[in-house]
Amino acid sequence: MQEQIKNIQTLEELQALYTATFGKNGTMTARLKEMKNLDNDARAALNTENATLRELFKMRQTELENAVLMAGLQKQKLDVSLNPMPENRGTLHPLTQSLSEISKILESFGYTMHTGPEVEDDWHNFTALNTPSYHPARDMQDSFFLENGNVLRTQTSAIQIRAMESDGVPIKMFGVGATYRKEMDATHSPMFGQIEGLYIDKDITMSDLIGDIRAFLKRFFEIDDVELRIRPSYFPFTDPSIEVDLKWKNGRWLEIMGAGMVHPNVLRNCGVNPDEYQGFAFGFGWDRLAMLKYNLNDIRQFYDNDVRWLKKAGF
Ligand code: DAH
Repeated sequence: MQEQIKNIQTLEELQALYTATFGKNGTMTARLKEMKNLDNDARAALNTENATLRELFKMRQTELENAVLMAGLQKQKLDVSLNPMPENRGTLHPLTQSLSEISKILESFGYTMHTGPEVEDDWHNFTALNTPSYHPARDMQDSFFLENGNVLRTQTSAIQIRAMESDGVPIKMFGVGATYRKEMDATHSPMFGQIEGLYIDKDITMSDLIGDIRAFLKRFFEIDDVELRIRPSYFPFTDPSIEVDLKWKNGRWLEIMGAGMVHPNVLRNCGVNPDEYQGFAFGFGWDRLAMLKYNLNDIRQFYDNDVRWLKKAGF
């Protein structure tokens, strides 16, 4: 019997022999039933035989199962030269990419990043920026007001006020964030990203401003000959105020940003003595800059987040 078990080659045969031995009508079952008629030695021998056989069955079963498994594995082929399934890799959103480029450049110039709340109070968004409630310049920006008198920040200029209030002067900072205005067309989105720069110290001049803008545009657009056009403009929080245009590859002038020397009233509103300190501020839409850099023509596509568009645009 023991030899027989060891020589069995299939699980089915093993099962059949097991049933014939230990099943209801099995040979061992019958012998165990007669055990009471045996003397002690014979009983002990039968018990041992019973246990040994069961153990052998178990061992052979494990061996045969393993053999089946190994045979199965050997039949399987793993073709490592097959192309894997195409993998959809995510990338950073174009606006995130351009923001991080802009931040890197400004930080390398010594500006430190600041942020502020998107729901602003009147003081930081308007009044401290020399735009009191009766000021006509409030009409320049179609604002979303909240019932409590707060406003969805219309300009990151609010962040320069917060920065001066918290850090004092001298200060060299840039503010980053979303801004909101009631406007919507191909070049305007009701929510858009702005960057604000501010540099206040004892002897900062307009030339420092233009120098930094030139250096910044050179790095961001990767152009060697930055040709700028400086036009006089008006902003309530700067005096003099300018608008900066950049000559594009096709010869066209592109409006890039507003800037100017910070108005003494703004400095006073932040507890800074304008007879001692002065400096400049500048502000621009960073999605607009990204549109120019990546040659896109509809700002709203940035916010639609249509993956097909993002892929086609090269992101
Ligand atoms: N806040 C202005 C806007 O939203 C942009 C701007 C213009 C910011 C001139 C400035 C500046 O700091 O000096 O259009």
